[in-house]
Amino acid sequence: MLILAIESSCDDTAAAVVAAPNQVLSNIISSQFALHAPYGGIVPELASRAHIEAIRPVVEQALIRAEVCLDDINLIAATQGPGLVGSLLVGFTFAKALALVKNIPCVGVDHLTGHMLSAFLAEKQPVFPYTALVVSGGNTSLFAVADYTDYRLLGRTRDDAAGEAFDKVAKLLGLGYPGGPAVSKAAEKGDPSAFKFPRAWLDKESLDFSFSGLKTSVVNTVNRYKQKKIPVPIEDICASFEHAVVEVLVEKTLLAARKNKHRSVIIGGGVAGNRLLRTHLFRRCREQHLELCIPEPVFCTDNAAMIAVAGYYLYKKGRLLYPDDDAFSRSPLN
Ligand code: KG4
Repeated sequence: MLILAIESSCDDTAAAVVAAPNQVLSNIISSQFALHAPYGGIVPELASRAHIEAIRPVVEQALIRAEVCLDDINLIAATQGPGLVGSLLVGFTFAKALALVKNIPCVGVDHLTGHMLSAFLAEKQPVFPYTALVVSGGNTSLFAVADYTDYRLLGRTRDDAAGEAFDKVAKLLGLGYPGGPAVSKAAEKGDPSAFKFPRAWLDKESLDFSFSGLKTSVVNTVNRYKQKKIPVPIEDICASFEHAVVEVLVEKTLLAARKNKHRSVIIGGGVAGNRLLRTHLFRRCREQHLELCIPEPVFCTDNAAMIAVAGYYLYKKGRLLYPDDDAFSRSPLN
């Protein structure tokens, strides 16, 4: 069974062709980094316009790269939400229109479920039930994943998402957009123990996150240097900040696995590409005898291959879209 998947929830226009359940034949991503970089963040109106221009060539490329044509496709899967509604509507409407014209079944996928199942695109695959940390620019949430279509929210951020905190710190330090990779690169040369930034553990046993206090602490530190007209130690600040974020993400993920007696842990979302997070989580999971499954970085950031995987299992459950089904900006799972 061949699945054509489309993802346009934020600032990447993506399409993939996947042979069910998880053999990726093509995975095309058109990124809008350069478009939004001058603004230091995503401008929703610009994002939707760029999706409109990119969607057709991206889908065509995905079919060409997979060496198939539309008539070979048995299922279309599209991200239905959450995300920027203007962006979502482009990919979602395109998918529904294709499905209607070509008479192909179509499913709408919650973007978060794509991240939760992205580990099935990895070499080592998780065993149900498992703990999933979805950590991106818009979300930081922990889920218990009981099956391909059965998820339960365990905890979520009460304020900023981790990726958002990386982006804001990068902006403050003049490191550009997207902030995560820039902060991480600067951190490589810094001392992680230079600053004692706060870790928001919240209540004992809480699986919620909070990154706004950490962000404010970084802002105050930078301001103190600026007021004294002393050069800001960017690399040390980045290293200390990155360690603070990673420590909380890792320990809460392990706590979630422990509380739910899970043996497998997976991470997904743009921040899952962070090297420190990957190595630290790998070490801690090994210590706790937990199996860690992390997809390649290209399947951690927004991509359509993960939407195909999630879409396939919705299809198997008969959850087909109706032509008037709409996109949603907030996830009912979160
Ligand atoms: O999942 P994603 O591609 O898009 C959405 O949020 O929808 O995640 C993008 C986020 C951005 O906030 C970016 O700064 C962050 O992931 N990110 C990283 C890294 N790579 C991307 N954060 C920390 N370290 C990284 N290496």
